[in-house]
Amino acid sequence: MGVAADTARVRSGWEASLLATKLHVPDLPAAFVSRARLLDLLDAGAPRRLVVVCAPAGFGKSALLADWVRQKRRPSAWLSLEEADNDPVRFWRHVVAALDQVLPGIDERLSPLLGPPAPESFVGFVATLINTLAESERSVTPAALALDDLHVIDAPPVVESFTYFAEHRPAALQLLIGSRIDPPLPLARMRVRGELTEIRAEQLRFTPEEAAALLRGAVEGDIPADAVAALTARTEGWAAGLQLAGLSLRGEADPARFIADFSGSHRFVLDYLTEEVLERQPAEVTEFLLQTSVLDRLSGPLCDALTGRSDGQQMLERLERANLFLIPLDQVRGWWRYHQLFADLLRARLRHRHPDRVARLHDAASAWYDEHGFIDAAAQHAMAGGNIDRLAELRGDADDAVEHASRALAAARPGEWMLRIHATGYLALAYWLQGRLPAAERMLVESIAQVSPGRPRPTDARGAGADRA
Ligand SMILES: Nc1ncnc2c1ncn2[C@@H]1O[C@H](COP(=O)(O)OP(=O)(O)OP(=O)(O)O)[C@@H](O)[C@H]1O
Ligand SMILES: [Mg+2]
Repeated sequence: MGVAADTARVRSGWEASLLATKLHVPDLPAAFVSRARLLDLLDAGAPRRLVVVCAPAGFGKSALLADWVRQKRRPSAWLSLEEADNDPVRFWRHVVAALDQVLPGIDERLSPLLGPPAPESFVGFVATLINTLAESERSVTPAALALDDLHVIDAPPVVESFTYFAEHRPAALQLLIGSRIDPPLPLARMRVRGELTEIRAEQLRFTPEEAAALLRGAVEGDIPADAVAALTARTEGWAAGLQLAGLSLRGEADPARFIADFSGSHRFVLDYLTEEVLERQPAEVTEFLLQTSVLDRLSGPLCDALTGRSDGQQMLERLERANLFLIPLDQVRGWWRYHQLFADLLRARLRHRHPDRVARLHDAASAWYDEHGFIDAAAQHAMAGGNIDRLAELRGDADDAVEHASRALAAARPGEWMLRIHATGYLALAYWLQGRLPAAERMLVESIAQVSPGRPRPTDARGAGADRA
């Protein structure tokens, strides 16, 4: 592209070569699978809409944006951001250099305004940038600017001036953002106004067909449908996981066995998630992740029972916002779970670092579930933690219940319908606790039938009404 050469004239050689790497649209891997359904989403409503591609590490955000830009659906510029771009002078210098790719000359015009001396107001600088873009709009209508890795930007002067830019940019300049976390923009407002296109992990997940294509490319050969299905399920459509599995499969003597064993403790996946995700977290987050990794489902209060703290709900919401492989299980943000491979990694690390803690954490989970009436989950954790006593207690409770209720039911006389209703209902619950589901269901039907219309009315009508109320 002309930009690197042009700007090299006014920048030092070192600066220019650094800049060139940031403006370079990432190459696509040899086994790249172009996904038309996602490219179409990016096109929809463009260019006025802001496009936000937001998902955890390795979900294929950069690959998708790069594919879109490389297909030259419209003249596009690219900028990969990094921590150092939290300096507003540097940030805007780089944005202007990127824009120079679609609007030649803008760098030369605007760069001097960035100093030295640095401008007093970066919002003021952005206003000038917007005016300049608006003047030249006609010649390049429409163009696009892709900003990748925006999650590294958090310095207030950059955030503030960038927000102004995103909201006031000329309509012909489309903005595409790749980020691991929600960008610091008024997304809710933009969403309501129909000015936002969002592509998140749900959309970025590989479908089985897409996964088959990716794996075929990575393995450089055919791969059986059941193997694809197993790996798609195991990775939950996570691009990096599929790619790592594909690479490892290459030259694997026993592919079926490899696929059966593939998990977050596979060394490639482990390295990737450790380096890209886990090691970048503050200590308190890592600690929380490890402690709660024994859980299949997470809620705030349940996490509190394991951590001994009281900020479980806030932590979970924070992890979800940070796109830390946490998947909501309901609409009200009450229950979540970790992505399977991420949970594998956390559990492996917990076992390795704190083998002594595992049983205690399971036990705390079991006690919480027991206390809240989730006997099956309580039993599962008691089993996982090797707490035989608790397990016996839980089973014993259910056994006792079955015995008492059966005896009561056997002793009930034909007219004692209230007793029958209670005993059958109680028995249904007790069977359920024992894991005897068909028996539980039979009792439940029986119990409901006792109070259903169409049955002979119980002799004591007042009591029946009270019971149904
Ligand atoms: N469509 C695809 N076809 C083949 N491989 C892909 C595809 N999308 C992603 N990948 C591979 O998956 C891996 C992760 O993709 P990518 O780097 O785009 O993720 P990302 O979401 O940008 O991650 P990060 O948050 O770390 O920037 C890469 O190795 C990439 O080559
Ligand atoms: Mg990326």
